[in-house]
Amino acid sequence: MQLSTKTQGLSIVGLTLVVIAIVYAGAPSASNPETLSDHIGYMLRVTARLSFGALLLAYVARPLVQLVGWGRPLLIQRRYIGLAAAASLTVHFGYVAAFLITSGEPLDWVTGVFGGAAFALMWAMALTSTDPARRRLGAGWKRLHITGIHYVWLIFMQTFFGVAVESGSRWAEVMATLGLVALCIRLAAWLSQRFKRTA
Ligand code: HEM
Repeated sequence: MQLSTKTQGLSIVGLTLVVIAIVYAGAPSASNPETLSDHIGYMLRVTARLSFGALLLAYVARPLVQLVGWGRPLLIQRRYIGLAAAASLTVHFGYVAAFLITSGEPLDWVTGVFGGAAFALMWAMALTSTDPARRRLGAGWKRLHITGIHYVWLIFMQTFFGVAVESGSRWAEVMATLGLVALCIRLAAWLSQRFKRTA
């Protein structure tokens, strides 16, 4: 039986939520006050990594097809992969709220403004990821999605770089490296398209 593109796409989002539920079950307990902060930190890290992983797949889907001709399944499912990234970042947002409430740490304005803008852009992209919204927004749709994906990529990268430098986290180093590789793939595809046009 062949599943429709939409059903396959929704399963990607569903699978992401199942992974988050499994991670939740394996995380330090949220109901024990002694491990609550470990739970929140753990879930913050996992939801950020999961969201960035999905974002990068959406980020390189078209460039990969343009450059080497493969990655078509990724391109077909790019909308749902993006929705999976947004779903995981939304869980991150929930844990950010839990972190701020339980730790009593103040939210500095730079993180609030620039991090808040990343959440807002991600949600705006998710809410406009339908065909009718695309038609209604016209050229604005492309502007929103190109600006949004690069901005969210940037916020992820500066956070992973910061964590890698401050704590030497292997995970953060790997994620930042993957982010740079994805940027190189996009740049290479962009340059090859430009040369094709001017050749
Ligand atoms: C108001 C905004 C935000 C606050 C207060 C916040 C807070 C946090 C905290 C407390 C951690 C856990 C640090 C640790 O225990 O190691 C974390 C991790 C992280 N957050 Fe956020 N976050 C915010 C928004 C965002 C946004 C918008 C993004 C991405 C677009 C993001 C990406 C990350 C990344 C990449 C990590 C590190 C994951 C790792 O260590 O592997 N955060 N955040």
